[in-house]
Amino acid sequence: MASNETSGESRSKRYAKVKIGLLVGTAGLCVVVVMVIVILGLKKRSLLEKVGFGEGMVHVDGTTSIGLIDDDYICATLDWWPPHKCDYGTCSWGSSSILNLDLNNTILFNAIKAFSPLKLRLGGTLQDRVMYQRHVDQEPCSQFTLTNNGLFGYTQGCLPLTRWDELNIFFQNTRAKVIFGLNALSHREVNADGSVVGPWNSSNAEDLMKYTVDKGYMIHGWELGNELSGSGIGARIGADQYASDTISLHNLVQKMYKNFEVKPLVLGPGGFFDANWFSQFVIKSNDSLQVITQHIYNLGAGVDNHLIEKILDPSYLDGGSHPFRDLQNILRTSGTSTVAWVGEAGGAYNSGRNQVTNTFVFSFWYLDQLGMAASYDTKTYCRQTLIGGNYGLLNTDSYIPNPDYYSFNNGLINLTEWDCYLVDEP
Ligand SMILES: *[C@@H]1O[C@H](CO)[C@@H](O)[C@H](O)[C@H]1NC(C)=O
Ligand SMILES: *[C@@H]1O[C@H](CO)[C@@H](O)[C@H](O)[C@H]1NC(C)=O
Ligand SMILES: *[C@@H]1O[C@H](CO)[C@@H](O)[C@H](O)[C@H]1NC(C)=O
Ligand SMILES: *[C@@H]1O[C@H](CO)[C@@H](O)[C@H](O)[C@H]1NC(C)=O
Repeated sequence: MASNETSGESRSKRYAKVKIGLLVGTAGLCVVVVMVIVILGLKKRSLLEKVGFGEGMVHVDGTTSIGLIDDDYICATLDWWPPHKCDYGTCSWGSSSILNLDLNNTILFNAIKAFSPLKLRLGGTLQDRVMYQRHVDQEPCSQFTLTNNGLFGYTQGCLPLTRWDELNIFFQNTRAKVIFGLNALSHREVNADGSVVGPWNSSNAEDLMKYTVDKGYMIHGWELGNELSGSGIGARIGADQYASDTISLHNLVQKMYKNFEVKPLVLGPGGFFDANWFSQFVIKSNDSLQVITQHIYNLGAGVDNHLIEKILDPSYLDGGSHPFRDLQNILRTSGTSTVAWVGEAGGAYNSGRNQVTNTFVFSFWYLDQLGMAASYDTKTYCRQTLIGGNYGLLNTDSYIPNPDYYSFNNGLINLTEWDCYLVDEP
């Protein structure tokens, strides 16, 4: 079920199809860009006062294509954080982890199914601390526990195969397309300075992949590692080594899915943009990499008291375009078939901020990001999170949608409409 939507062939077909039109993707994204333009037009005036009354003029240029997104551009994440993950004295994760989310919840089920398909990326900081249980009924799986001397502040945790079964049945029933983030630090030593020793040991990933294939569970993509690129968060891996690890993952996928006509995507590095690192990584991975994923937290830390000012400041938001533009240039100039995704974007790091990143005002950041990323040819955009932290599309405790969820389900963005003719800046 892995789709070939990012393959060169279907891409060029599609480009041909929309030759006359520009396109960012869905009709809804036109609306996004229109909104962004209206907002841009109001620069330097009190935005809150003007949004209600302002009039905008939109000129649609139907002759140029500025980007092309996947049909299922919208993606959201699930994370591994346990209930005792707290930031600045607030514990915002509840039971929203991949390990303990209530998969029987009807609101959750319907919220995902409404997209049919919603891309779901499973990952986050603790992904590089997760071991995969190797046989059902083996020794019990250990839980993540806070510790002073473990990487990222936690002991290793473990994914029980019974939970993996439940998750996959849930994903099948909700028609989600799953991107699973693999542990890149498995059986690998991390030096005190954060540097990592030796190549990726794929043996535990192979266990999980084999089990998954044997069970007939569909995985849309396998992603290697989380935030270990560039200077890394907690640990870092050089671009050369990461490229060679990605080639190993590619070979593993080829081997495990040997009899599959369409194989899962290979993604990486799921980290913050760093021009030199990303460019070396793309060149050296020898087209083993189908999707290069970057993370976006351009508003700063969730503890910041001035988040709302940033969210409502168009020039601040525009400043977030650099990594999109620079990555697009790297992909263009390297002649690779690799495409760009945003693999995780929560705006404000350390779990967002209550009353901000889970309220209506955050849509100004989110919709601006969706439009901007699309205009630099980003194919898929994964919002941190579907549920969990202060930036969920759904409320962590009640599962009831937060305002950003309705960005797509109130007719503002209509994901079933594909062809779209857009847009020129005023
Ligand atoms: C979810 O439903 C299944 C099947 O009805 C049941 O076995 C399981 O105990 C339920 N889990 C929770 C957490 O309610
Ligand atoms: C990878 O880890 C497994 C499990 O500990 C070990 O048996 C194997 O020898 C390791 N492989 C390499 C190449 O180090
Ligand atoms: C990448 O491709 C080049 C040219 O085909 C080849 O020389 C090189 O050995 C490849 N690198 C790896 C790590 O496979
Ligand atoms: C979305 O667009 C499709 C195709 O044009 C249309 O059939 C559908 O009614 C629209 N949905 C909404 C919610 O507007």
